[in-house]
Amino acid sequence: MKIPFVDLHAQYLSIKKEVDAALAETIAQSSYIRGPQVEAFERAWADTLGVKHCVSCANGTDALYVAMRGLGLKPGEEVITTAHSWISTSETITQAGGRVVFCDTDPVTFTIDPALIEAKITPRTVGLIPVHLYGQSCDMDAIMAIARKHSLWVIEDCAQAHLARYKGKLVGTFGNVATFSFYPGKNLGAYGDAGCLVTNDDQLADWAATFARHGGKGEHIMEGINSRMDGLQGAVLLAKLPHLAGWTQARQRVAARYAELLEGIPGIDLPKVLPGREHVYHLYVIRTDRRDGLRKHLTDAGIATVINYPKALPFYPAYEYLKHAPAEFPVAYANQSRIVSLPIYPEISDAAILRVRDSIAGFGAADTKKTEASGQAGSTTRSRA
Ligand SMILES: Cc1ncc(COP(=O)(O)O)c(C=O)c1O
Repeated sequence: MKIPFVDLHAQYLSIKKEVDAALAETIAQSSYIRGPQVEAFERAWADTLGVKHCVSCANGTDALYVAMRGLGLKPGEEVITTAHSWISTSETITQAGGRVVFCDTDPVTFTIDPALIEAKITPRTVGLIPVHLYGQSCDMDAIMAIARKHSLWVIEDCAQAHLARYKGKLVGTFGNVATFSFYPGKNLGAYGDAGCLVTNDDQLADWAATFARHGGKGEHIMEGINSRMDGLQGAVLLAKLPHLAGWTQARQRVAARYAELLEGIPGIDLPKVLPGREHVYHLYVIRTDRRDGLRKHLTDAGIATVINYPKALPFYPAYEYLKHAPAEFPVAYANQSRIVSLPIYPEISDAAILRVRDSIAGFGAADTKKTEASGQAGSTTRSRA
């Protein structure tokens, strides 16, 4: 049995009737760009989060860019964000005219370490972009306290954290604005690119909607960009939204099962959830010192894994110009060679989870045999399998 990393087709089959009907209706209406389905989804998503406005965009990257333009980011101004994310979070700072300032993550949650943020603040700092990475919330109390103290805006990058909560409150409702991606593999995914920003700020929502649609329809009150959601994506998202809470619970059950089965396997660090945070497990990321060996072992067994992400952002060629050294981001740097994401999706079977466990446990056992054969039984190498 091959185990895929995600199985979007299994999810489609489980809601085929609803999705097919929604797509057929959209095609019958020829509402291909925005249109009633997109407007209905914007309203439904804003209501789900309990925010005033949802402005849909073509993808989550554009949503970040539009948000920063809307917040008035000026050339040379600095924005502090996490060293561990997908590059959309930082590339859009530069595209919007700002300067990227990276901050290391905390050792437990893979999210920005608030204790390190203030040291990065300069007179040019205007905003913070925390990322609720893998589906667990950042420490929003600490982040919002810093933002208030230094008069900074906050954009929550919620691309991986639909319906995640911090102290009972949904992520995306803390900062000035929050952005979501509906990339197909996300917890709420379209059948192509799609994204949005959400905010309670009437003016910002109005500006963003105008900017993302060529600066206004008919009367172009400014130059904008073309970042509209397709009608077909709106239809898919609207059909999927009622299932999101159930899918989130299913992901949480899968994560609990992994935790139960993998607990105690030597050398494997399981994801930890800090008190007050509700993790929605977009990704289930374990850490091990023998990551590459384990990954090969799983691949050979037909189990797909992914590295999210192969490098911490400061160490990609795109940021060579910042001349960062590993010692500046010790946590994110250490994680880049230790992380591996296991298959997780709502429809994954218990048999598949058990196979993943057996394969990981088998890697430890194979390693033990090798170590014993070389006369080093009980060494630290073995315990770090
Ligand atoms: C943390 C993070 N931010 C932003 C994005 C950008 O979203 P999109 O792919 O919809 O542009 C992603 C998507 O992968 C992401 O994971």
